[in-house]
Amino acid sequence: MAVQRNCLALLFSSILAVCLAQTASNECSKSYLDNALKSTRVTNGNTTLWSRLSEREPPETLTTFEVQKHQYVLQICRWSLPIRKQEYVLANIGLMYLEKEAFPTNNATYVVDLHKNYLESVRYGVFSNTGILALNLSHNQIEYVEETAFNNMKYLEILDLNHNRLRNWNPNFFTNTYNLRHVYVSNNHISYLPEYILKNYKCGYLNNPTFKLNLGEILAYIAHEGYCSLNFSRNRITHIHPMAFANRTKFGSIDLSGNKITEVPPVWLEDFKMVTFNLSNNRIKEISIPTMKKLSACILCAIHVV
Ligand SMILES: *[C@@H]1O[C@H](CO)[C@@H](O)[C@H](O)[C@H]1NC(C)=O
Ligand SMILES: *[C@@H]1O[C@H](CO)[C@@H](O)[C@H](O)[C@H]1NC(C)=O
Ligand SMILES: *[C@@H]1O[C@H](CO)[C@@H](O)[C@H](O)[C@H]1NC(C)=O
Ligand SMILES: *[C@@H]1O[C@H](CO)[C@@H](O)[C@H](O)[C@H]1NC(C)=O
Ligand SMILES: *[C@@H]1O[C@H](CO)[C@@H](O)[C@H](O)[C@H]1NC(C)=O
Ligand SMILES: *[C@@H]1O[C@H](CO)[C@@H](O)[C@H](O)[C@H]1NC(C)=O
Repeated sequence: MAVQRNCLALLFSSILAVCLAQTASNECSKSYLDNALKSTRVTNGNTTLWSRLSEREPPETLTTFEVQKHQYVLQICRWSLPIRKQEYVLANIGLMYLEKEAFPTNNATYVVDLHKNYLESVRYGVFSNTGILALNLSHNQIEYVEETAFNNMKYLEILDLNHNRLRNWNPNFFTNTYNLRHVYVSNNHISYLPEYILKNYKCGYLNNPTFKLNLGEILAYIAHEGYCSLNFSRNRITHIHPMAFANRTKFGSIDLSGNKITEVPPVWLEDFKMVTFNLSNNRIKEISIPTMKKLSACILCAIHVV
C-alpha cells in the first residue's frame, strides 16, 4: 500500500529540544507522551484519539490516525484522516504543531476540537479552505495568529479561542469567511480593539450606513441574518478604536466585561442595534447623555459605573 509520508505532525520534537536542555530530568517528555498515549487506542496499527478528559470509550465518529513513534517523535499522518467524519477530536493530547492541509478541503463539513493542547500560533493553510463548521482552540497557548489564518473558511460559524495568550486582534481576520457568527476570545491578553472588528461577520453588515432600509427590509434582514456574538470578556482592554463596532446595523451580543475600559463614546452605538452589550466590571466612571440615548437601541445593556 502506498502510504503518503507527508506526516501532518503532532510533533514532539520541540519538546525534545526542551528536554535535552533540562538534562537529567526527562520527566517532561514522558509526561507529554503519557498524556497523549492515555487518550489513544491502538487497533491494527492505527490509533484512535480522543480527549483524555472523557472517561468513556471514544464515539464511533472519532478519527483514526496512524501514530508512529519515530526516534521519540510522535507523528500523526495525514493520509489516515478519514473524510466525511463529523468531528475530529484532538483534545488534550499534547499537540504542539499542526502541519498545513491537515484537515480535509474537499467540501465535506465537520467540527474540529483542539482544546487543551500546546498550540502557540495559527498560520494560514492549516484551517483555511477547509470544511470546518466549528473550531475549538480554547485552552492552548496561542500568542500569534497570522492575519490570514482564518481566511477562506467558508463554512466556519463558531470559533473558540478562550483561554489563550492573544495580545492583538486584527480587523482583517475572517476575510472570505462569510458564515461567521460566534467568536469567543475571553481570558486572553488583548489590550486594544482596532477599527471595524465586526466587518466579516455574517450579521447585518452595511457598507454604506447612510443608506436607510425600510421596515420590511429591516425585518427581512433580522430574519435572515440571525444572531451573532463576540466575547472579549476578561482581557486587558484599555483602548478601543472609535470605529471598532462601526458599519453594522444589527448584531447580537458583545461582551466586554472584566476589562479596563474607562469610557463609552456614543459613536460605538451609532446606527447599531444590539441585543446585549456587556461592559460590566470595567473602570467606567460615568456615562454621557449622548451615550445614554444611544443605549436605548440596546435591549440588554449592562454598564456598571464604578
Ligand atoms: C488505518 O486506517 C486507514 C484509514 O482509515 C486505513 O486505510 C488502513 O487500512 C488502516 N490500517 C489498518 C492496519 O487497519
Ligand atoms: C466544492 O464546491 C464548489 C462549489 O460548489 C465546486 O466548484 C468545487 O469543485 C468543489 N470542490 C471539490 C473538491 O469537490
Ligand atoms: C471548547 O471546549 C471546551 C472544553 O471542552 C468547552 O468547554 C467549550 O464549550 C468548547 N467550545 C465550544 C464553542 O463548543
Ligand atoms: C464603512 O462605511 C463608510 C461610509 O460608508 C465607508 O466609507 C467605509 O469604507 C466602510 N468601511 C468598511 C471597512 O467597510
Ligand atoms: C463570555 O465569556 C465568559 C467567560 O467564558 C462567560 O462567562 C460569559 O457568559 C460570556 N458572555 C456571553 C454573553 O455569553
Ligand atoms: C455581564 O457580565 C457580568 C460579568 O461577566 C455578568 O455577571 C452579567 O450577568 C452580565 N450581564 C448581562 C446582561 O449579560
